[in-house]
Amino acid sequence: MNSAPPAVAIQTNGLTRVYGNLIALGGLTLTVHQGDLFGFIGSNGAGKTTTLRILATFLVPSAGSAVVFGHDVVRDADAVRHIIGYMPDFFGVYKDMEVTEYLDFFGACYRIPATQREKTVADVLELVGLTEKRGTLIGALSRGMQQRLGLARVLIHDPKLLLLDEPASGLDPRARIEMMAILQELQRMGKTIIISSHILSELQTLCNRVAIIEKGKLIYSGPVQGAQQQISDSAVFWVRIRGDHQGAAKCLAAHADIVGTEYVEDRLKVTLSSHEVDPSFIPELLIQGGFRLVEFYEDEVGLEKVFMHVTKGETQ
Ligand SMILES: Nc1ncnc2c1ncn2[C@@H]1O[C@H](COP(=O)(O)OP(=O)(O)OP(=O)(O)O)[C@@H](O)[C@H]1O
Ligand SMILES: [Mg+2]
Repeated sequence: MNSAPPAVAIQTNGLTRVYGNLIALGGLTLTVHQGDLFGFIGSNGAGKTTTLRILATFLVPSAGSAVVFGHDVVRDADAVRHIIGYMPDFFGVYKDMEVTEYLDFFGACYRIPATQREKTVADVLELVGLTEKRGTLIGALSRGMQQRLGLARVLIHDPKLLLLDEPASGLDPRARIEMMAILQELQRMGKTIIISSHILSELQTLCNRVAIIEKGKLIYSGPVQGAQQQISDSAVFWVRIRGDHQGAAKCLAAHADIVGTEYVEDRLKVTLSSHEVDPSFIPELLIQGGFRLVEFYEDEVGLEKVFMHVTKGETQ
């Protein structure tokens, strides 16, 4: 039995934004499903922030439409604001406020009753790992902690959709990994998340789907793996055996679906004629040939490589 397809969280159609002669966003048509942790990738000036600001109702599109959980971002902006949490790329914090005071203030802005606010604030602080800093002045928090506080702020009204514009920028590697772990936790809680970033290698493992844009145009949208397949016609696998790699290479090279074998460091790189070929014959062939197989895995084309391949590095 097929399960129902996931609900659509965001649907844009021909979304366009112009500034004078500049087309910042040129007809973006994009679908994000409920529960996605969606990576939004593009070089500087590609149109990421423009798109996120339109979805967050802070910027009106010049043409086209965007619908968030059934609400149009222009006609139904108020309804959209209630169900989204938007973390801009740069946000001011009130340095002389205490952490709890700051979150309580935003809770009040969202009209969360005073009786509930204490618990809500405690919950979001727990989620972002700032409980111990609840009484600290914001000015005395490190950059990574301020960033986490920014995330706590957009969670205060329990939004269904998070729009995060480079939330990990400027963070050290540990803080970035912690931020990614929080995002995964939020996804598990059922939130839909869009994250824009330049940190491609991190998005590769974090996101289930990605979109790549350049100069305001969509270049790719779909699973990370699909982006990888798009850049090469042939599938590459790696084989490590105990013993005679040369003999194994010979054994494999005789097969019609294998177009190349190459010995690299301590293993064999095996190239198939296409992605359509079922690779399970490779280990079978080796074992039948009496070779002792230790490792067999598909080559991972890094998202970084995909990105460099599909974009021309053009900025406007
Ligand atoms: N207020 C504005 N006035 C004029 N042009 C703008 C304005 N805001 C953005 N642009 C232009 O629109 C284009 C897209 O900008 P945007 O900020 O969406 O890119 P981005 O993908 O977020 O880039 P970055 O990675 O640098 O954050 C750029 O060419 C930018 O110069
Ligand atoms: Mg930006």
